Parts: sequence; C-alpha cells; structure tokens
Amino acid sequence: MSAIPASLPLRNDLIGEEPYGAPQLDVPVCLNVNENPYAPEPAVCDSIARRVREIAPTLNRYPDREHIELRRAFSTYLERESGAKLDVDELWGANGSNEIMLQLFQAFGGPGRIALGCDPTYSMYPEYARDTFTEWRLAHRNPDFTLNVERTVEAIREVKPAMVLITSPNNPTGTPLDMADLERLLAACETASVAGAPEGVHPVLVVDEAYVEFRNPGTPSAVTLIKDHPNLAVSRTMSKAFAFAGARVGYLAANRGIIDCVRIVRMPYHLSAVTQAAAIAAFEHTDEQLSRVAHLRETREATAAWLREQTYKGEPLKVAESESNFLLFGGSFDDRDRIFKELLKRGVLIRVVGPDGWMRVCMGTDEEMARFREALVEVLRLVEA
Ligand SMILES: Cc1ncc(COP(=O)(O)O)c(C=O)c1O
Repeated sequence: MSAIPASLPLRNDLIGEEPYGAPQLDVPVCLNVNENPYAPEPAVCDSIARRVREIAPTLNRYPDREHIELRRAFSTYLERESGAKLDVDELWGANGSNEIMLQLFQAFGGPGRIALGCDPTYSMYPEYARDTFTEWRLAHRNPDFTLNVERTVEAIREVKPAMVLITSPNNPTGTPLDMADLERLLAACETASVAGAPEGVHPVLVVDEAYVEFRNPGTPSAVTLIKDHPNLAVSRTMSKAFAFAGARVGYLAANRGIIDCVRIVRMPYHLSAVTQAAAIAAFEHTDEQLSRVAHLRETREATAAWLREQTYKGEPLKVAESESNFLLFGGSFDDRDRIFKELLKRGVLIRVVGPDGWMRVCMGTDEEMARFREALVEVLRLVEA
C-alpha cells in the first residue's frame, strides 16, 4: 500500500491508485511475469561486460540519443527473425516496450483522443491511457479469446480511435492474430476517422508483438507489412524470448512518419549508453539468446496437454490455445486466489490474471515445470477436499 499524505497535490484522477506490477517475491519457482527462465551464457555476459567497459570512459558524455548502432542491430535481427528488411529510420528503441507504448500514447493519444483495445488483454494499456489522459475503450474478444474482427472493425468505425492496440500473441491468453485478420483491421484503420482530429487523419494500428518469437514456426510477423502500411506500428521487446528483461530494451518498427512522431515526445537521451552497449553485445549472441525458444515452445505444448488431463470439480481444466511462452488455464476456478496462495506456499508463483476462473502460468525450466505440476496436483486435491 502506498503512503501518500492527503496534503500532496496528487492529480485527482490518481488518488487511490496503486502502482502496477506483479508481485516480486523471493520464491524458488517464479512463473508469473513471462520471462525466459534461461540465464545468458557466460560468453554473452563477457561480451556485455566488455562492451560496457569500452564505453565506460565516455560516460561523462550523453549517449547517442538516436542510438543508431542499436537501431542497425534491430534491423539485422528483424531481417533474420522475420525476413523484414527495415531501415534504421523505420526502427526505434526505448527502455522496454513499456516505454515504446507510453511514447505511442504520448504521440497519438491525449485529451479528446481515444485508444481501442480488445479484452482480455495486457493490463498496462489502460494505465498508459490514464497517464496520457486518453480515453480507453474496448471491443471484446470471442469466448475462445480469438479476436472478433467484425466487432473490432465496427468499433473502429464507431469509436474513431486515434490508436487501436492488438496484442499478438495476446497476453494473458496467448492467442495469435491471423495475418488475414490483421489486414482487415489495417484496411479499416486506413479509412476510419479519428475523433478530435481533422478529416483525412486515420488511426494508428499498434501490434504488440512482445511474445512473437514464440509463435509457431512459419507464421509471419506484422513487421513484414510495414513498408505498405504507413499507419502500422509494431512493438517488440528483448525481454521475453530474447532473455534480456533486466536490460530493459524494447523497440518499435514502423514507417518513418510514425518514428518521427515518437521522436517528438521522447525524453532527451532516454536510452543510456550502458543500455545501448549491453543490447548491442546481446545481439552479437542472437543464436545463444534464442537457443531455448524451441524448447520453451515444446514445454508449452507438453504443459498444455498435461493441464488438459487434470480436473477441477470433476471437469477437465480448460487451456487457451497459446503461441506464447505462457498458458491461461482453468476456466472454472471459483477460488483462484486460494489456488494461488496454496501454490505459493509450495514455492511456486504464478499469476491471477484474465477473466474470472482463469490463471496464467509462464513456461520455466524443466525442473521448474516439474515442481509446478507436482504443486498443482496437490493444490487441486486440497481445494476440492
Ligand atoms: C503484451 C506485453 N507487451 C509489453 C510488455 C512489456 O514488456 P517490456 O517493457 O519488458 O518490453 C509485456 C510484459 O509483460 C507484455 O506482456
């Protein structure tokens, strides 16, 4: 709980609000924030240390605020990962994709502007909206968590948002967005108008691809559509598959026009020289950093199959189809807080998130998943007794 004295002039709309964030607890099995559980290899750590050592004597100077070398590394990575050839001025980095999103809201949201999301989805979006005085509206997903494209297109026409946010794969459900559906949304955005903006202005479609490296092989990424769609912005991160959450590096791929809008609102020198050096070093080890992604995908499939064999009150557990590194499961838990606490007592931290009755577990190492399975069997037996 915060300790904010009533005498402080906190903005009226923030009174009573709490800082956002999943619990950070010191427990043996942390499966609650969708990280890659595998630590960087010693060779990667050495490269990071070397790069940071190299720039240390320049730390009296501000960093390259355009972070050109890092943007080149994003370009090389995206070409390899998704086959998209993007120029440096079509890429932009920030302190996590959280900061990318905030910058997008700062550039395109604001008083009188609306952002549209499709729930259930990532719980930070309403916070960026609140912080930038943007109105947050929702078009609900289907019961199986796939995007309801007709409903979303209708909402784009009616609501006239400045920004439409689609998460693919979605958090907390893991649901990917089909390319044909994405193209329909783009077509809707390219003709829709924006409340509070002059005629001829169209919504920006933001695709949040934080988990995209975990998609099934062969599935295209939204970054391949950027050249043809000036209103498409794709947010990416090094925090998830790339196993670099602690360094705080996210990036944006979009047409140069969108990047230039974001450059207006960024803080001067927002990306420290240390962050830039560490990220460039990590990209030199892309193979090592991504080496566990295929295994994590297999873990997801095996865990989904195992969860579907478990029962709660006589019914098999439901598991949402996921192309990410986490699974939303349960569907009918009427006491998920108790399940959460009992798992925690057994050293396993997962997340109470998403619609009522569901919980989310992130894929850990083989040992961590074994402990999760063991603990869940015990807890389900206990809560049913
Ligand atoms: C959908 C989604 N987008 C963005 C983020 C932010 O990630 P980061 O700021 O670490 O890049 C997260 C983190 O959990 C996420 O789930």
